[in-house]
Amino acid sequence: MNESLPTGDGSGGAQPRFDMPLEEAMTTQRAIRRLRTDPVDDALLLRLIELALKAPTGSNAQNWEFVVVRDRAIKEKFGRLNGGAWGIYGRIGRWLSRNDPAMQRVLAAVQWQADHFADIPVLIVPCLRGPRLPWPPLAATSYYGSIYPSVQNLLLAARAAGLGAALITLPLWSTVLARRALGLPWSVTPCAVIPLGWPRGRYGPTTRRPVAEVVHWDRFGNRRATA
Ligand SMILES: Cc1cc2nc3c(=O)[nH]c(=O)nc-3n(C[C@H](O)[C@H](O)[C@H](O)COP(=O)(O)O)c2cc1C
Repeated sequence: MNESLPTGDGSGGAQPRFDMPLEEAMTTQRAIRRLRTDPVDDALLLRLIELALKAPTGSNAQNWEFVVVRDRAIKEKFGRLNGGAWGIYGRIGRWLSRNDPAMQRVLAAVQWQADHFADIPVLIVPCLRGPRLPWPPLAATSYYGSIYPSVQNLLLAARAAGLGAALITLPLWSTVLARRALGLPWSVTPCAVIPLGWPRGRYGPTTRRPVAEVVHWDRFGNRRATA
């Protein structure tokens, strides 16, 4: 990646470039939890977020806020939140996957992340401004649908930059405590946490269900051979 300062105004001045072919980024982007402690430049972080902002939002409200956390005390708070939820979830997960070595490897990576949380160089916390209405049903999908496209943009941009990142939600089991840690007003809701840094390991292709297995033509259950 050719890295230089972002202009911040989207005007196309000297900016970091992300030259990786889109398909390569999409097929190799995955949760990277083991990260080095080396710092990540502010300029690069701002460019990642700038690219995240190219995503759609409901009614083009652009009601997103991104909190970039480097402060160790705040990372420790998030580490405790993550560890609290992981203590329960991990125990259940280990028991359920006791005969599944692949899943056990994932859980070992999650454990590594939990053990090193405060050492992760940066946490990005994508948030939404405005209320999450309980009704009608489209309110929920429009609400979270206004942040996750930007999160995926950010993950893909991080991948193209060679950074390691993961989308996690365990630290948000208590939005009250997460809000308090970040000083967020009640009108702003944290939706995800993205621990970010230079990876210890290597990216590789992800394993996903085959397309023919998940596609239904016109009506649910109607399958045909997929070209
Ligand atoms: C909504 C959501 C919440 C997630 N929460 C966590 C989390 O709290 N901790 C974690 O380690 N991974 C979390 N993940 C990451 C998934 O475990 C990961 O994307 C999945 O295992 C696929 O991994 P891969 O992309 O490396 O193949 C979350 C993913 C999503 C989409």
